[in-house]
Amino acid sequence: MSTFGTLFRVTTYGESHCASVGAIIDGCPPGLPLEAKDVQTQLSRRRPGQSNLTTPRDEKDLVQLQSGIEHGITLGTPIGLLVKNEDQRPRDYSETDLYPRPSHADWTYLEKYGVKASSGGGRSSARETIGRVAAGAIAEKYLKAAYGIDIVAFVSSVGKVKLPSVVSPPSQVGSEDDDVVEDALAPEFVELLKTVSREQVDAHPTRCPHPETAERMTKRIIRAKEAQDSIGGTVTCVIRGVPAGLGEPVFDKLEAKLAHAMLSIPATKGFEVGSGFRGTEVPGSKHNDPFFVKEDGSMGTRTNWSGGIQGGISNGEDIYFRIGFKSPATISQAQETAQYDGTPGTLAARGRHDPCVVPRAVPIVEAMASLVIMDQLLIQNARKTALSLLPAITTLPPTMVKPTASS
Ligand SMILES: Cc1cc2nc3c(=O)[nH]c(=O)nc-3n(C[C@H](O)[C@H](O)[C@H](O)COP(=O)(O)O)c2cc1C
Repeated sequence: MSTFGTLFRVTTYGESHCASVGAIIDGCPPGLPLEAKDVQTQLSRRRPGQSNLTTPRDEKDLVQLQSGIEHGITLGTPIGLLVKNEDQRPRDYSETDLYPRPSHADWTYLEKYGVKASSGGGRSSARETIGRVAAGAIAEKYLKAAYGIDIVAFVSSVGKVKLPSVVSPPSQVGSEDDDVVEDALAPEFVELLKTVSREQVDAHPTRCPHPETAERMTKRIIRAKEAQDSIGGTVTCVIRGVPAGLGEPVFDKLEAKLAHAMLSIPATKGFEVGSGFRGTEVPGSKHNDPFFVKEDGSMGTRTNWSGGIQGGISNGEDIYFRIGFKSPATISQAQETAQYDGTPGTLAARGRHDPCVVPRAVPIVEAMASLVIMDQLLIQNARKTALSLLPAITTLPPTMVKPTASS
């Protein structure tokens, strides 16, 4: 379906080659100062044609706010957002009238709907994500203003070129003995999660905030492009300042909502939160995050292998996760494949395509993270308000309340 969220509800519309793409956002709180430029900043980070590492399709992606805002203030009514598709070239897709692109969505969309959009994969085009990015920018503005929440995503790998995130003692390399497994989040990576800013991320066209690694990533993307090929990568996202208590176990655990949101982005192939798959190799004695009281008196954890979520509920630590994006399917290199009617043949796709999607995926990941956190905050606030309206229960047994220092 094209709607995401429960209380902060976003419906996106549009395909690659229709008149416009956009979104309707229902449930945005009234009274939020909002201007087109708040949304435009993120749309411009997503737009094609930003550098030689992205598709040359020339779209300005200028947003038009249609409703739900007056005098720069949200009204609490549905917000309509629209971006025109201006640089369509459906003729680029003439081969794909005959051939479904291998590993794209052309064949499955036609099987499902029985009719085909001129661009082939219809709604699977990354143009659809404009509506998400615009809606996410609005959610993000509220999260920042009301809670000081900060969301930053960055490119953490391209092909095999990786931002170093884990240190493993040399003794461990190749060892199968659990007791010597002591890998840990590299201090550099932990620091990066705490401090990384969008300015640092945008300082390099790859959107990797580690200049040396960014240069190596550039070379990898250019190599793919020159070979008329493509390459995948990962995006890591950190959400700072989320209060404890968000997430709706059991089916709507916070990590499940984030995974749902992230895996709905085109070209995603994997999601891991906190220690992720790496955590399976670290014994519990090393992997547990011990509690301690922070300087401000609040409870915190010394390490954060959990990625800020325990039992499907935020624990107040930074939430961080990683998403894997495949190598884009559309490549100009000739591929032996079959036409829609089964006739074998060779497809060398024309058109303008991203050799690697991760630099442009960064604001999309931030947007989806904003939508999840916004929705979960509104849900938790509704629960808290409902509780606060009840007369206080004074007779709870001690096992039902938080012990105090004196008890
Ligand atoms: C920012 C972004 C840009 C993309 N650009 C392209 C592209 O130029 N060519 C392409 O084949 N796929 C591109 N994709 C991926 C397709 O939208 C997607 O892979 C395809 O529809 C198949 O869907 P699936 O990979 O989710 O199964 C892009 C994805 C994103 C997130």
